[in-house]
Order: sequence, then C-alpha cells, then structure tokens
Amino acid sequence: MTDEKKIHDDCEQHDCFVPTSRRRFLRDSFLGVAGALIAVGMSKSDAFAMPMAFTEATRSSGATHSYTVPAADGAQIDKDNEVILVRWQNAIYAFSLSCPHQNTALRWDDRDHTFQCPKHHSKFTAAGAYIADSGRATRNMDRLAIRRDGAGVTVDVDKLYQEDTDGPQWASAVVKLS
Ligand code: FES
Repeated sequence: MTDEKKIHDDCEQHDCFVPTSRRRFLRDSFLGVAGALIAVGMSKSDAFAMPMAFTEATRSSGATHSYTVPAADGAQIDKDNEVILVRWQNAIYAFSLSCPHQNTALRWDDRDHTFQCPKHHSKFTAAGAYIADSGRATRNMDRLAIRRDGAGVTVDVDKLYQEDTDGPQWASAVVKLS
C-alpha cells in the first residue's frame, strides 16, 4: 500500500483505489471515463458531453460558487468544483459528484432522469433519493448547501449534508422556483 492509495477489501471485481485526495480521485475518474471513450473512437466533444452537460460557476469565492439557474430540467456538472447542479420540477439542487456508497463518480441518464452509479448500480431520482433495491447505496445522494442569489443560486461545497445524519439540513438544501 502506498501513501497515495489503499485497496478496498470488498471490491474483488474492481480496481477500487481510494486516493488520499478524494477530490483528485473524482476528477481523475471523470476524466478517465472520457479518455476511455475517446480511445474507442468517440469524438472528444461527444466523450466529454457524457455523462452530463457541463456548467461553470459565474462567480466563486472560497468554497462558494454561483450559477445561473438552468433553463430546463436536467443535470449539469461543474467539473472544476465537483458540483452536480440539477433543475427538476421547479426546484434546484446541488449534489456531490460522488456516490454515497464508495465515492464513485455518478452519471446522469437523461432517458429516465435518474442518476446511476457505474460501480454497484445504485440509482437515484433527480432529487437525489435512493431508488430501493437498485444497488449497494444505503442513503440518498449527498446534497450541498444551496441558496438563492439574485437571479441565480450559490452553492457552498464546504457544507455537505448526508441524508442519514443531517436529515433536516439535507431536506432544506433546495431552492424552490416560483
Ligand atoms: S460505489 Fe457502490 S453503489 Fe456506488
């Protein structure tokens, strides 16, 4: 075992490494998937369009990042700040990019409007609720604190709420659109 990573005991069928830096791991995972798609012949633009459309913060200050309200329902990813921004049924949510089970980068399936974990196949609704019996996750997706900020929203990536331990904060981490 190196200083950089250790191997999960329960992942016999996966090369499951957990680097010291979770942020770097998630970024590397995301870029690795895109790189693999390019290697098998997909165009660079198509590969990086998967699994979610990209967005960027319009303004950042420390751990807070501001975004324009998405024009339509769906999921977008800010890969620089590892934020998933979702507009869904007149509400805006911000999620951690990582699966709540073992931190695998989640994907968005625009066909059925669910998030899916490529590792153990957990599925989550657009609002981040775990879909029963879909995989190994034991809680909903982790939400980030989000608030209305003028015409947009601001997300604080230092305030991450887990549904099982931070229930009230998790439930209130949403911006309702009127
Ligand atoms: S890492 Fe196991 S369900 Fe996502």
